[in-house]
Amino acid sequence: MVCLGNICRSPIAHGILQKEIEEQGLDWTVDSAGTSAYHSGEAPDRRAIQVSEKNGLDISGQTSRQLTAQDIIDYDIIVTMDTNNYNNTLKIAGNDSHKSKIKMLLNYSFPNENRAVPDPYYSGGFDYVYDLIRQAVHDMTAQLIKS
Ligand code: 4NP
Repeated sequence: MVCLGNICRSPIAHGILQKEIEEQGLDWTVDSAGTSAYHSGEAPDRRAIQVSEKNGLDISGQTSRQLTAQDIIDYDIIVTMDTNNYNNTLKIAGNDSHKSKIKMLLNYSFPNENRAVPDPYYSGGFDYVYDLIRQAVHDMTAQLIKS
């Protein structure tokens, strides 16, 4: 799960998918990272922790880190939150096979529309962002289980 700072959107997506994995007993590994190193080493944003807590999810133990080219090798699917994250992740992918692993999260709910999860860092809207991510992670999980 990839966003810009790895303190708001991708930690929420990481936590929600981790919970789905546990609830459904899936043999999957999830992690999250940011395309930037702006907040490396930091815990998630207080507002992301709060909205998650309100929804029964504890993401307070996560730590922000920057995405690496090795992540794109190690993981089967790289899920980005918006077009900037998508394009910046493409730039560090080594080859076409790695590039093809990179997806936009909301395409699992709204196929081929390339919609973005809005960046809530300056503008807020954490409840809306949480609901969007929750639905898309749920849709993604259902589709991957079927495939
Ligand atoms: P995120 O939100 O990409 O969802 O973690 C942001 C966090 C920090 C910044 C921007 C977006 N920033 O500019 O520091």
